[in-house]
Amino acid sequence: MQKATARAHPNIAFIKYWGNCDDDLRLPSNPSLSMNLAGAHTETTVEWIDGLTADDLEINGQPATEDASQRVSAHLDRIRKRLGIDVHAHVASENNFPMGAGIASSAAAFAALTVAAVAAAGETLTERELTTIARMGSGSASRSVPTGFVEWFAADTHEESYAQSFAGPDHWNLCDVIAVISREHKKTVSQAGHRTAMTSDLQPARVAGAQARFDICRQALVERDFATLATVVEEDSNLMHAVMMTSRPPLFYWLPGSLTVMQLVPEWRQQGLNVCYTLDAGPNVHCICTADAADEVRSRLQALSEVVDVRMTTPGGPAEVTR
Ligand code: DP6
Repeated sequence: MQKATARAHPNIAFIKYWGNCDDDLRLPSNPSLSMNLAGAHTETTVEWIDGLTADDLEINGQPATEDASQRVSAHLDRIRKRLGIDVHAHVASENNFPMGAGIASSAAAFAALTVAAVAAAGETLTERELTTIARMGSGSASRSVPTGFVEWFAADTHEESYAQSFAGPDHWNLCDVIAVISREHKKTVSQAGHRTAMTSDLQPARVAGAQARFDICRQALVERDFATLATVVEEDSNLMHAVMMTSRPPLFYWLPGSLTVMQLVPEWRQQGLNVCYTLDAGPNVHCICTADAADEVRSRLQALSEVVDVRMTTPGGPAEVTR
């Protein structure tokens, strides 16, 4: 086979990945944990073409920027090396979610690219190895390869820092109700942020406590214990943002509207709604809730003037070859 298409979902981290021990291999400073997002996906077709002199990349039908093309080509280099092939590829990628939807796209993009590129070469690798390859393209992409609720281990070696599912999407019908505060593309990409994480005096403390938070979060998910989940998810998000804000140079991702939602969500929880917040490297607030609370959370968010859009997703499946 020379051509294959794969589909992957983005994910929302409950325990965050921020900072690497090894930037080139993307060996993370701490373990992380996430849920795939069903409503959104990236679909990527890779065609290895003999005689092509360079890789070329199209995103949503348009030629990609130089930066994106270089990052994809560097990832294809890793795959060429692993598979022992020396051919360039035409890559076409489509997102079914808009750029400003509050969903980071690199996780789904590099998960789909990895799975499609390997399948197009006619190779079959274990899911574990696919997660390690995807990880080198974008750290969080490792978590978009397996299904449902996924853990990604921090380790000293490429082989040991892999991701695996610990519960399928049907395990717990949680919803991610995303309060979009800004549709603007983020100014500082995660890649640069990971490199400055260690300049914050708070990063060593965040990393030191990460395994304990990971264990609490994982167990709360396994036991469907929302109260415990809510506390640890909000704390972990706040810790990551504290590191971001105290890095050199500092990174501020929150906007006033983000804080409005972050102040309301714990109040709503006190009133009996199963909801908590978490924010990635951007101003949009992911409100994680149980399915019975989702409609109420959505309408409360829609009523806020700072919220420009609200999107709802449920737990998603794995990265898969579709054709
Ligand atoms: C804040 O995986 O996007 O979303 O490896 O440089 O592509 P790169 O970074 P990326 O970082 C994700 C950061 C985060 C937290 C998380 O998803 O765990």
